[in-house]
Amino acid sequence: MVTYLDADTAPLRNTGQIRLYGADAFEGMRKACALTSQCLDQLAAIVAPGVTTNTIDRFVFEFGMDNGALPATLNYRGYTKSTCTSINHVVCHGIPDDKPLRDGDIVNIDVTYILDGWHGDSSRMYPVGTVKRAAERLMEVTHECLMRGIAAIKPGVRTGAIGAAIQTYAEAERCSVVRDFCGHGVGLLFHDAPNILHYGTPNEGVEMREGMIFTVEPMINLGRPHVKVLSDGWTAVTRDRSLSAQYEHTIGVTKDGCEIFTLSRNGLDRPGLPS
Ligand code: MF3
Ligand code: CO
Ligand code: CO
Repeated sequence: MVTYLDADTAPLRNTGQIRLYGADAFEGMRKACALTSQCLDQLAAIVAPGVTTNTIDRFVFEFGMDNGALPATLNYRGYTKSTCTSINHVVCHGIPDDKPLRDGDIVNIDVTYILDGWHGDSSRMYPVGTVKRAAERLMEVTHECLMRGIAAIKPGVRTGAIGAAIQTYAEAERCSVVRDFCGHGVGLLFHDAPNILHYGTPNEGVEMREGMIFTVEPMINLGRPHVKVLSDGWTAVTRDRSLSAQYEHTIGVTKDGCEIFTLSRNGLDRPGLPS
């Protein structure tokens, strides 16, 4: 049995109950998410062959500091970086290091800033130099999955409608949906109830209500959906080493749909892809 509660009075830990946020929270989330989105905009001019993911990580840290925000991943469950950088067959949680990006790579950069207690969580794919058509197509399909999932969000509808929209499109495009990671409630906490699955059917999941805030962040593979986590305890890769892509937005459920808090102000939601 799922219960919903007022975010102002609820305890600050994930109790499995779903927080319903009010107008002040939406205002706080707009600001935190705008900062995350601005950082991802600026990274479009930084990502290039020869640049290391540690350089990207340092930029994310400093951009946060300069704007009064802390990266939520820093010291999160033992993670020590300010961002995740997931290259090619890395599905998610790639750890920045000193290896330079190479021409033809595709990299997901995932940033979460905490600003005044509010978490803004978003990620985008960045092509490095010139990428193969198959890689470009995977990024296009994955972004379309994200936006089709978001289009299904509405009070009274179950969260399964999001997953159904994503899975239907991904599989029609001969791609597969990763099952091992999902979207999540976000706001005062980084990872909160409910889980948002990127596959399934419209009659599954909890009913969406006005005031819910969560992420949609499908991971889509060119090959099979299966993943494994490397011995570093974080890096998730496709078992068949096929390419994987991901885009993520943080949204708030409104009276008749949703507000996307992490949209780019500069048309850079799909860096390097034709808009
Ligand atoms: N930002 C990721 C998400 O979208 C979570 C990263 S947790 C970390 O939920 F510890 F791996 F950084
Ligand atoms: Co997330
Ligand atoms: Co994220």
